[in-house]
Amino acid sequence: MNLEKDIDPRCVAVHLEEPAPEGDAIGYPDYSAEDHETWRILYERQRALLDGRACDEYLAGLELMRFPDDRIPSLRDVSRTLQSTTGWSAARVPGMLHERDFFAFLARGVFPSTDYIRPRSEMDYTPAPDLFHDIFGHTPMITNPAFASFYRRLGRVSLSATGDDRRRLERFYWFTVEFGLIHTWAGLRIYGNGILSSYSEVRHSLTDTVTKLPFDPDRVAAQEYDFSSMQPLLFVIDSFEQLADGFDAWVRRQAWD
Ligand SMILES: [Fe+2]
Repeated sequence: MNLEKDIDPRCVAVHLEEPAPEGDAIGYPDYSAEDHETWRILYERQRALLDGRACDEYLAGLELMRFPDDRIPSLRDVSRTLQSTTGWSAARVPGMLHERDFFAFLARGVFPSTDYIRPRSEMDYTPAPDLFHDIFGHTPMITNPAFASFYRRLGRVSLSATGDDRRRLERFYWFTVEFGLIHTWAGLRIYGNGILSSYSEVRHSLTDTVTKLPFDPDRVAAQEYDFSSMQPLLFVIDSFEQLADGFDAWVRRQAWD
């Protein structure tokens, strides 16, 4: 059986063949009116879900980003906001990157973002990251110093890991950066970017149908996941300091540094 013919080409990781434009070197694509309308619809319905569900750090980042509600944001502007808050920047990349290229960006404090938007037929689910996932989902959290510092360190450690170690770090990435929850004084909130950019995951993740476990680095690194379905199990941190300190202590125990 030839499985390859069933794989969406957007899900095949690419190596960069030329340096990706970063910061002020990023141009603004000639988006169609339908592309801007897709952003408008996605932004409006997702934003309406987030008060009372997204963590304060994400919502503060969203304020700082000042995304327009009726047209696709400029990645150059996003990069400038990152630069002025945590010293990060953004790069424009053509698709899903090979792991090593991806982690090399994070290790430098550069967020590699796509700049294409999903077709109208994939409003609820798109198999590979698009700009709504990357820009709306990821970049607001990177304005937060504690999260940005952890994220960079995760990239740096992942860059030098191989084999099973790399796989464990990918799980770590999945259950924190993409699908993390946090305890707050007001209740459970979302900080995972994969949840925050998904209409269905935002509504699903805080319900009782999801098993929620306290953050435990060893457990997180061992937990398998299926990226293609709604997540049945999530980990909850108490603070971003706990996340960063827990990760650092776990890395030291693996003797990778
Ligand atoms: Fe992502």
